[in-house]
Amino acid sequence: MRRAKITIVGAGNVGATTAHWCASMELGDIVLVDIPKMEDMPKGKALDLMEASPIMGFDANIVGTTSYDETADSDIVVITAGIPRKPGMSRDDLLSTNARIVTAVTEQIKQTSPNAVIIVVSNPLDAMVQRAWQVSGFPTQRVMGQAGVLDTARYRTFIAMELGVSVEDVSALLMGGHGDTMVPMPSCTAVGGIPVTRLMSQEKLEAIVERTRKGGAEIVGLLKTGSAYYAPAAATAQMVEAIVRDKRRVIPCAAYCDREYGVGGYYVGVPVVLGDGGVQRIVELELTEQERADFQKSVDHVKSLVATMDSLMQSDA
Ligand code: NAI
Ligand code: 2OP
Repeated sequence: MRRAKITIVGAGNVGATTAHWCASMELGDIVLVDIPKMEDMPKGKALDLMEASPIMGFDANIVGTTSYDETADSDIVVITAGIPRKPGMSRDDLLSTNARIVTAVTEQIKQTSPNAVIIVVSNPLDAMVQRAWQVSGFPTQRVMGQAGVLDTARYRTFIAMELGVSVEDVSALLMGGHGDTMVPMPSCTAVGGIPVTRLMSQEKLEAIVERTRKGGAEIVGLLKTGSAYYAPAAATAQMVEAIVRDKRRVIPCAAYCDREYGVGGYYVGVPVVLGDGGVQRIVELELTEQERADFQKSVDHVKSLVATMDSLMQSDA
């Protein structure tokens, strides 16, 4: 049986670390691609990772390249190409540079891997997924973004730290865009099946929600030279695994919502069933009045970002 072919565009921090997790999980063969200006860098990272395989005991063919020829007929393409933020920058400040990069990358993918599932990671995430979908013309099920798995993982980590319990026992959901308006959902958060609201005060939970919203900025402030990559890459590998192994995981992803949640044709974070072929289904929940208002605020922010991006792209055309 042919192994899945996974292309990762952008061999920087998130891209190379995603390759690392995907290889060690034996999700498939990996092509790491970057721009010609980077010369042999992707080749070096791919070879270095491949040389770890006899020690760590994984089988995967890993190649690095600056040409899309080697990416042909990929089953999954992960887009991490773009600039990351530095201290003082928001994800939205990356919009014009990364929209151009995501456009160029998606045009290539459309030619070389017309049947691929695309997972976008570049920021500002929700607008970048919208762009990849617009440019690829792929069915919405095959284009999605990674943000919710990461944001939920941060939220789960903080809850586990506060309660002194295993992260494995914390299950949670977070909706909305990947930004300060994201919507952690205490009503869908449990620890070993016990609603979190029965285990900690409202005040503590609100502090954790706030820390989660600012989780990306917290890491940027500590690293100073770029943004997070271990957890973002692990989150992306979990999405790749769900698709390659048809696991039908119920996880939050940036998925195209039209009538769903009344969004009206935008990518935004919602719970989905992720498996073979991509987003198999969007899970629609009854939201409380407060959750609906918070979600709508987040969707409105995504819409205004997409409007800015669309006018930028029109003036480029
Ligand atoms: P990085 O700077 O380490 O790597 C980016 C790589 O993209 C560089 O190697 C660069 O040469 C490459 N690149 C630029 N233009 C390209 C093109 N046209 N084709 C192929 N490669 C190209 O940045 P890092 O930390 O890996 O972050 C990448 C992106 O992911 C950023 O936009 C960042 O904000 C975003 N991000 C998103 C997260 C999420 O949860 N959605 C989490 C973490 C980062
Ligand atoms: C994060 O949340 C930068 O979006 C990235 O860490």
